[in-house]
Amino acid sequence: MLSKEYITDLKFKKNGEIAKLVRNQHDVGGLIFILENLGHLPIGFNADFLYDLLLHQHAQIRFYAVKNIAKLNGKSDTKKLVSLYQQESDTSVRREIVSAIGRQRKVTNKPVLFSFLKDEDPKIVCQAIRGLLVFEKDKEVEEHLKPLVNHPNEMVRTVIYKEFFAKENKTANVLPHTETYEFLKNVVVHADVLEALKYVPDESVHLTFTSPPYYNARDYSIYQSYQAYLEFLEKVFIETHRITKEGRFLIVNTSPIIIPRVSRSHSSKRYPIPFDLHSYLVKNGWEFIDDIVWLKPEACVKNRIGGFMQHRKPLGYKPNTITEYLMVYRKATEKLLDWNMRSYDYKTVDMSKVDDGYETTNVWKIDPAFDKIHTAVFPVELCKRVIQYYSYKGDLIFDPFAGSGTVGRTAKLLDRLFFLTEKESEYFDYMKSKAKPGIFNENKTKFLTLEQFTKTIK
Ligand SMILES: C[S@@+](CC[C@H](N)C(=O)[O-])C[C@H]1O[C@@H](n2cnc3c(N)ncnc32)[C@H](O)[C@@H]1O
Repeated sequence: MLSKEYITDLKFKKNGEIAKLVRNQHDVGGLIFILENLGHLPIGFNADFLYDLLLHQHAQIRFYAVKNIAKLNGKSDTKKLVSLYQQESDTSVRREIVSAIGRQRKVTNKPVLFSFLKDEDPKIVCQAIRGLLVFEKDKEVEEHLKPLVNHPNEMVRTVIYKEFFAKENKTANVLPHTETYEFLKNVVVHADVLEALKYVPDESVHLTFTSPPYYNARDYSIYQSYQAYLEFLEKVFIETHRITKEGRFLIVNTSPIIIPRVSRSHSSKRYPIPFDLHSYLVKNGWEFIDDIVWLKPEACVKNRIGGFMQHRKPLGYKPNTITEYLMVYRKATEKLLDWNMRSYDYKTVDMSKVDDGYETTNVWKIDPAFDKIHTAVFPVELCKRVIQYYSYKGDLIFDPFAGSGTVGRTAKLLDRLFFLTEKESEYFDYMKSKAKPGIFNENKTKFLTLEQFTKTIK
């Protein structure tokens, strides 16, 4: 009867008992069990039977054979492994071979590892890179690895960038991670966001949460074309990227919109804004993190299904749209989230911890908010979740398209700071009118024209 104890027992016997057990085992499941449970290999272990298994017809057996051979470290036979690599078609076996050769840490293996860098499988390339990075400050290794910063695969590019280029690219003169500039704290600027951002220094905001203007769907947003609209948003989010602190988040609320038909002889057109905007963001250094779906009750949305309910004809199906997206991005960095979290002192971390009852899924059921003056305001609950889940107390929260200022008011409520920009006088004045003591606390919030804002900059 095969058992772990039995295998361990045979492994330490000098007379090749374990090899005999393997050679007499004709059942694939049994063989895998032995190979999986071989554990640490003692010094002087005779691994010939493992090399024989490299020719086994079952890929899984070859995989485990390589995995065990790798445990021999410097003593494994590179030639035999390379010859298997050359004829092997199974991806996991091939990767395991590269890992086994890398683990030997032998200078003489460098040429073989260099040759693996040309493999089509990016995981093999990454594995070979790992094997080569053990040769620290080796000129030849650097010459082979550095050009891979232009490799077609993004994982490979990221590893190489982090290893060789990130340290050289550090931005000078940025404030400590948790701090920001006095002249940005609790400020609302009445200006086009792109004009206002010209005066905002690099790496000054901790979180951006915004809902951009809808493409020509409402009167406050008129763009010449959909392309022009996307390019405008691209500019805003390039600037937002510049002013965002390392590794911090951008959350953009959008949904596909419909532009009604011009006449009965035309169709209405639907624009998939979140999906089209996505590639512009990623291309400009925003790493995609999550898609959160904001789910509204059906009774609160426009009825599109009415026609279909009458005629029931296929192709004429138009579901009621009860969702919007919150696309979550992070300013791309080689630093882990842990680095961001560790920037805060113990007290701030403790005070910012999210209370029980937080949302556990990416579907957030929240009623929409309605407002007499502004037609597209955020529900406070939506802002609360975003701000609590993606910022710490004392952080600066930015909304380039402030509207009625819900992000600012909620930030304040949650002991965060805010910086807002809004182009339209009507909405800027509306925000100001809401700034009664106790609501938007006039004493602390500064409502400024662009000119006034520029004069506050020290
Ligand atoms: C969808 S609304 C945001 C509403 C906001 N989330 C709220 O809770 O009230 C978009 C806002 O962006 C403003 N806006 C459009 N283009 C702008 C620009 N270039 N600069 C600054 N604000 C702009 C519009 O006037 C509008 O109020």
